Amino acid sequence: MSEHTQVEMTTMNYSKDRPKAANPVKIEDLTLRDGHQSLFATRGRTEDMIPVAELMDEVGFWAAETWGGATFDTMHRFLNEDPWERIRTLKKYMKKTPFSMLLRGQNLVGYRNYADDVAKAFVERAAANGMDVFRTFDALNDYRNFETVVPAIKACGKHFQGCICYTMTEPRLGGEVYNLDYYVKKGKDLEAMGADSICIKDMAGLIAPYDAYAIVKALKASVKPPIHLHSHFTSGMSAMSHLKAIEAGVDIIDTCMSPYAYRTSHPAIEPLVMTLIGTNRDTGFDIKHLAKINEILERDVMPKYRHLLDDTKMSIIDINVLLHQTPGGMLSNLVNQLREMDALDKIDQVYAELPRVRKDLGQIPLVTPTSQIVGIQTVNNVLFDNENERYKMITGQVKDLCYGLYGKTAVPINHEVQKKALKGYPRGEEPITCRPAQVLEPELDKAKKEIGSLAKDIDDVILYALYPVTGKKFLSWKYDKEPVPAEVKPITMEQVKAKQELVKKALAGKLVEKKEKQAPAKGENLRTFNVFVDDEYFEVGVEEVGGAPVVSYIQPLQSRKPAAPAPKPAAEAPKPASAPKPAAPKPAAAPKPADVDGTPLTAPMPGMIVKYEKNVGDAVTVGETVLILEAMKMENALASPASGTIKAINFKSGDAVAKNDVLCVIG
Ligand code: CO
Repeated sequence: MSEHTQVEMTTMNYSKDRPKAANPVKIEDLTLRDGHQSLFATRGRTEDMIPVAELMDEVGFWAAETWGGATFDTMHRFLNEDPWERIRTLKKYMKKTPFSMLLRGQNLVGYRNYADDVAKAFVERAAANGMDVFRTFDALNDYRNFETVVPAIKACGKHFQGCICYTMTEPRLGGEVYNLDYYVKKGKDLEAMGADSICIKDMAGLIAPYDAYAIVKALKASVKPPIHLHSHFTSGMSAMSHLKAIEAGVDIIDTCMSPYAYRTSHPAIEPLVMTLIGTNRDTGFDIKHLAKINEILERDVMPKYRHLLDDTKMSIIDINVLLHQTPGGMLSNLVNQLREMDALDKIDQVYAELPRVRKDLGQIPLVTPTSQIVGIQTVNNVLFDNENERYKMITGQVKDLCYGLYGKTAVPINHEVQKKALKGYPRGEEPITCRPAQVLEPELDKAKKEIGSLAKDIDDVILYALYPVTGKKFLSWKYDKEPVPAEVKPITMEQVKAKQELVKKALAGKLVEKKEKQAPAKGENLRTFNVFVDDEYFEVGVEEVGGAPVVSYIQPLQSRKPAAPAPKPAAEAPKPASAPKPAAPKPAAAPKPADVDGTPLTAPMPGMIVKYEKNVGDAVTVGETVLILEAMKMENALASPASGTIKAINFKSGDAVAKNDVLCVIG
């Protein structure tokens, strides 16, 4: 007898009215969150979800993931959309299917631990706005970081799904830290906390099919809550892992609609439906109904997002994940970061340094935000360290981690690194061992006071509390205090078609009339597109005038430069504080001449100014922090290169800066 007898053929009736299976595999659809987060840089707009929302509601999903993860950040920062409004809007179209969100434990939908009052208010407001299932994880699998949000979820009468982040230090499950016992123990911890279901969260696509089988089997034997598998396709293993998990008795599987599936996303639902049809684990889904949804997505939605797909490689899988046991998204972020800093030749050094940094920092799992924390510190070490000194530029987040602000690491942090990171650390040089949020002062009232009348309700206040710089910017767009920049406005299908026509013309050499006519001045609605055609790269400016899109300029660039999956703030043109927003291409990364004499402090990397700690006229000593620069979501404290007085400050909070921009001058 095979141990796989849990999946058996039970019927030869494949019609849509086939009898219900004895133990159907339940499906959570991730199209509207993880799908576009994985493939299209989280740029999915609510207006592009509405055309399929009612049909999706009819499928019979166990839940639809509609929010959380990076959506909250991206929506207000890049899409000029109120994240809270998305839940309310989608709920009008999807009344039957429970909504699920990804909650980063005490990090909520941000990148640091927030105070308990913010965490509690966030969960209550998410529930009130329509969230049903809270898929909760902690990057360190330190469940003390669940102690505030879980009672809040339960008090709202909602579903608490506890996650175990899947990670490893060996090529397969096992080793001293992340072995089968580790996962079973974590499962029991979650059950004891009252988990309504338990999710194995394999964000990097690391789980191999037979390891998935072993873990699901072990968890089914030791805990009662239903077991859920979330496994990204990145490495190419997850469709096989799904099947082995189903054979081991997994209850719920995550998939995407096929246009949002595969690559760094998840396996598609359609092949799984066909695989299980007629068995005792049949999903019961109607494949023709799924096809109808796909048709709409392909025709009306995908053309607006195609340009965001990173299709620079032929292969749709990333075997680097198999080689380095590192999330694909993290690796592509590192590549993009290095490219922006003209240091792509250092990628092999980064691969070599990464496991060292991870080990120094306590072998932590690599998931948001720890993947960024380890990734950026690795890049900093490769770029700024020398033979005499390691960890020359330690990010604020690594300091927080060393202090214990993210929680307990799987193994202790390297003592030397910890000591260096905590030298002069404002909270104290001795690390804490308590639940991290215990040392955080309440934040909500302070946020309320700071944002004042710009926030009209508690949802606005929470948005600001989570994202002070970009949140404030968004609220000023929302309430017409500042004009909405063109680059955050949606693209229309007309614009997409106009762009395609232009590229066709350009390739045929027919785009010559431009020279005969005087080009109109570029208006504020000008949008810039990067268009890649075979080996050529065009930058196209499109602006709508009197309803019809016209070309403003199109310029082929010298060589194909594969774009980052999406523009990040770091890649945007820097703008002088007072000038109108230029729709200009990327600036040359040359140092700007300073207006005043003195020692310039230049940006070591592209990023966004969080805040200046000093004002013009303030005295500084060499090594003292002058400003905080955010690069790839990590905050870097930039130290003064000289002692003296701040003579000039060239940017303000929220400004994007390029590498080598002069941020201030010390004289
Ligand atoms: Co995911």
